Amino acid sequence: MATAIIVAAGSGERLGAGGPKALVEVAGRPMYEWSVIACEDSSRIERTVLAVPPGEAESFTVAAAVVVEGGATRSESVAAGLEVAESDIVVIHDAARPMVTPELFDAAISALAGDPDLDGVIVAAPVSDTVKQVGPDGLVSRTLDRSELMAARTPQVFRREALVKAFAGGDLASATDDASLVEAAGGRVAAIELPGPNPKVTWPTDLDVVEALFARSRGRVPDWRVRGC
Ligand code: C5P
Repeated sequence: MATAIIVAAGSGERLGAGGPKALVEVAGRPMYEWSVIACEDSSRIERTVLAVPPGEAESFTVAAAVVVEGGATRSESVAAGLEVAESDIVVIHDAARPMVTPELFDAAISALAGDPDLDGVIVAAPVSDTVKQVGPDGLVSRTLDRSELMAARTPQVFRREALVKAFAGGDLASATDDASLVEAAGGRVAAIELPGPNPKVTWPTDLDVVEALFARSRGRVPDWRVRGC
């Protein structure tokens, strides 16, 4: 069984919500609750840790999760959660991706648990744009081979030992995801393809997209989505 760390300590500045992004309502509930409910309904997650903005713990009233104060960067928030995660497998997920499902958590955990040679498994999506490397002078220096590229998403699942080692020696300030720290520490990380949409809410228009996706699934909403936390 695994522990999930939901990172929800972002400020929401780019969203312009005037408060923590994770508290912004999506499809009728604060955004972070969707991820907590999906963890609760995962058959492989036994404990959920929620990293919240410092001083905001009282705004996150959720019985299903242990609440810890996050840090100034995403990696610091993960590190705060990691301090109270004791299981051999640790799942990390952005509260800003409310469309995660219990099935997606379970698939990523099973992929790691089933391969003893792996230190981590991430969910990722094939890249549909052509990606260019652009220099500071604005000139394109290289066109990357799209067939080899995937965009990293969350959840990302790791052996606790590998994650602790990666965070202890890693450059937390510049890491944009957890797998990059494990890779830098010499860990083996596999990517599995994301089966459905799981967009990250960053800008106000992302909220419109996620609301529309939730609305489209209304009427065939799985039982676990209807339940409360
Ligand atoms: O800022 P961004 O959208 O990339 O953040 C991704 C996730 O990391 C969000 O769920 C956000 O709440 C979380 N985060 C955090 N602590 C921070 C910054 C971001 O938990 N200091």
